[in-house]
Amino acid sequence: MTEARASNDLWGGRYAEGPSAIMREINASIGFDRKMWRQDISGSLAHAKMLAHVGIISTEDEAAIRAGLAGIAQEIEEGRFPFSEALEDIHMNIEARLTERIGEAGKRLHTGRSRNDQVALDVRLWVRDAIDGLDAQIAAVMRELVARAAEHAGTVMPGFTHLQPAQPTTFGHHLLAYVEMLSRDRGRLADCRKRLNESPLGAAALCGTGFPIDRHMTAAALGFDGPTRNSLDSVASRDFAAEFLFACAMCATHLSRFAEEIVIWTNPYFGFIKLSDAFTTGSSIMPQKRNPDAAELVRGKTGRVIGSLVGLLTVMKGLALTYFKDMQEDKEGIFDAAESLALGLAAIGGMVRDMKPQVARLAEAAGAGFSTATDLADWLVRELRFPFRDAHHVTGRLVALAEGKGVDLAGLTLAEMQSVEPRITDGVFGVLTVQASVASRTSFGGTAPANVARMAAEWQERLG
Ligand code: ARG
Repeated sequence: MTEARASNDLWGGRYAEGPSAIMREINASIGFDRKMWRQDISGSLAHAKMLAHVGIISTEDEAAIRAGLAGIAQEIEEGRFPFSEALEDIHMNIEARLTERIGEAGKRLHTGRSRNDQVALDVRLWVRDAIDGLDAQIAAVMRELVARAAEHAGTVMPGFTHLQPAQPTTFGHHLLAYVEMLSRDRGRLADCRKRLNESPLGAAALCGTGFPIDRHMTAAALGFDGPTRNSLDSVASRDFAAEFLFACAMCATHLSRFAEEIVIWTNPYFGFIKLSDAFTTGSSIMPQKRNPDAAELVRGKTGRVIGSLVGLLTVMKGLALTYFKDMQEDKEGIFDAAESLALGLAAIGGMVRDMKPQVARLAEAAGAGFSTATDLADWLVRELRFPFRDAHHVTGRLVALAEGKGVDLAGLTLAEMQSVEPRITDGVFGVLTVQASVASRTSFGGTAPANVARMAAEWQERLG
């Protein structure tokens, strides 16, 4: 077999279709941008209405366009729309079908606009809708967390740094930490929404148009705060999408950390929570297993969301102004990130509702690892007026003593304590329990159950 034949066997099949087939395939976005059909139709309806209003098209044409687009919406909804790869994208698919359905009037719709401003508009509208959906979902997850936090404001558990036992905290306090993170995620989405809420429609190909269009009118009709102010920027920029992807990536990262904790907590060596069959799977070979797959997938999908952000920035970084076809690559990442995050939020919300904190096990773990050592040091500062550094040192020696005897701090006798520091009195035993430790941390934002209950109530009020 000659080398030419060999290569022909490998990829000659594709070439046999001719270069135009490959061009069509690489050029087409209809496979994914059909997701924006609603936004495309909304944009066209607003544009047509404006064209009629300023007298660029007749009111009869506008009525025909409106009816035609309504028919198309129905066709798409019912799965009867003849999507065509040859027509490249959602914009040309809908426009071609419109002309097929209503004739001449359909051909007038594209007056004073271009696919460049059209696609910029559709993506903005899609992202704006996605923001609204995600915001509602995040709020729902926050409500689940707050409800469980209120329930477990006083349920003690170990607080960790370096995944080493650090100080006792409460399960409610831990859950409310995520409520704070998610609240900032909502804030980021809201900021992004505010900045993206300008209409690029009417920027046309890149320089605007000589037709007497009214961009303020279309902007208002589509719920924007106003039109974008520079036509070149309007068709060249996707920073709104990058911001959206960052907000998604950050939120997904928060969910991922929580998912990681669920993986740790459900591990039998920890045994902090139990998940039901609803969010775990068994092993096909090891009958004892109960794997936290949903949490693992929330953590795993975060990679895709971060990837979409990096992907978009990479697509944009080398582009001179204004539009290049590279930008068609923005969409799949945006769609995928939004969908992955939506699924992650649903899964986390479900697991928060499903999880059963193992209260006794949490309490036992909360007291392990000399977790009240800081309370002992603080007692030395408060009662014996030790400088904190010296208190830290004395406490370290007491921990070493307890460790050597195989007991926890409260298990040392007063005499043993006094062998390290003679001024210690039996008042010290009052601060060595986990309950006393958490109850003492009343500083604003601290772990005291009373604080946690108050914060949970505040959040309940805020979230409605
Ligand atoms: N499908 C294209 C995209 O997603 C629409 C814009 C096409 N514009 C152009 N000048 N070819 O970016």
